[in-house]
Amino acid sequence: MPKMPSMIHFCLPPSLNYSICQRQSEFQVVLLTYAIIRSMKILGIETSCDETAAAVVEDGANIMSSIVASQVDIHARYGGIVPEVASRQHLITALPVVESAMAEAKVAWQDIAVIAVTIGPGLAGSLLVGVNVAKAIALAQGLPLIGVNHLEGHIYANWLGHSQPVFPCLCLIVSGGHSDLVLMTGHGQFERLGRTRDDAAGEAFDKGARILGLGYPGGPAIEAAAKGGVPSLPLPRAWLKGSDDFSFSGLKTALLHLVQDKGLLDAPLVAEAAASFQQAIVDVLVTKTMQAAERLGVRQILLAGGVAANKTLGNYITRHSPVPVLIPPPNLCTDNAAMIAACAYYHFQSGKIDGYDIDIVASLSLG
Ligand SMILES: Nc1ncnc2c1ncn2[C@@H]1O[C@H](COP(=O)(O)OP(=O)(O)OP(=O)(O)O)[C@@H](O)[C@H]1O
Ligand SMILES: [Mg+2]
Repeated sequence: MPKMPSMIHFCLPPSLNYSICQRQSEFQVVLLTYAIIRSMKILGIETSCDETAAAVVEDGANIMSSIVASQVDIHARYGGIVPEVASRQHLITALPVVESAMAEAKVAWQDIAVIAVTIGPGLAGSLLVGVNVAKAIALAQGLPLIGVNHLEGHIYANWLGHSQPVFPCLCLIVSGGHSDLVLMTGHGQFERLGRTRDDAAGEAFDKGARILGLGYPGGPAIEAAAKGGVPSLPLPRAWLKGSDDFSFSGLKTALLHLVQDKGLLDAPLVAEAAASFQQAIVDVLVTKTMQAAERLGVRQILLAGGVAANKTLGNYITRHSPVPVLIPPPNLCTDNAAMIAACAYYHFQSGKIDGYDIDIVASLSLG
């Protein structure tokens, strides 16, 4: 049984205070009943990598505010994320971002029911800032705290807005650090089928862009460059037959060799290389996802993570899938706090509330 905070009073009338309930279980019933009859606003906080984000989400779907302070310009000059710089930047921006999220949603602390925060996976120093800010607010305001797995959060971006995911569904999480194929049979029920054995899809885009001199972050840069090219260069695909795992490091090395062989690339050749590289990643992601979807007989496919913002991937998977494909809008594919609040809403519904002693888990996985 999770430890319950002793001073919970959030948006409950005083007569329903935790202190007057005899047992924790009794109080949880009160919380759940109250949440059913009254709309529930959750403040989400996300600092797992290089985005400081806060959002207020109502009933797990309605985004009242979503603020993302990106550090991309700071890290771009290094060609990738510098962890120490990221955590220091989170320290500077965390509280102003939370204040902006509250102001934009036009809510006061008594309107907030739960504080949700990403506990992992991610950069330890970055996660620590978000978790400690969330703990401090929860303690000061006497609010329950829910720790969220960042990857689960990415999946729950599909519940924001008006979309209606159905179970069982197959989730393809393609982000800066992960390429996971996950079977989801219910809220909070995950089975990881496959993962990347080396580079993640987003990491491959970032490294490929660096090889082509396209800058950081690489995914949007390669997507933009690819618009002017035809995917005609022969680049390898790692199918890893009989497994739902992925591998992209061989593709990256092949691109490097191609560039070295051709010498200085002119703009048309960069476009052709970008289009060919992007198509190789998309081919593998879509083919392997289709194979797993058909084998498992899922009812839907959910895309999640930054790479899910890629239009070529979205169009290709939608065209080839035998079942409906849900893709969050681009701003909800990349890191944001609305997805963390949406995920926490379903934790709360199933009675999963954490104690104020939650800690970060930098290497947290899903399923
Ligand atoms: N349009 C796009 N096409 C391809 N890749 C993209 C696109 N937009 C963003 N990306 C990639 O998505 C990644 C960022 O996604 P995200 O914010 O989900 O990753 P992360 O949070 O750093 O990693 P993780 O979620 O695994 O911890 C980057 O690698 C970026 O290049
Ligand atoms: Mg992410």
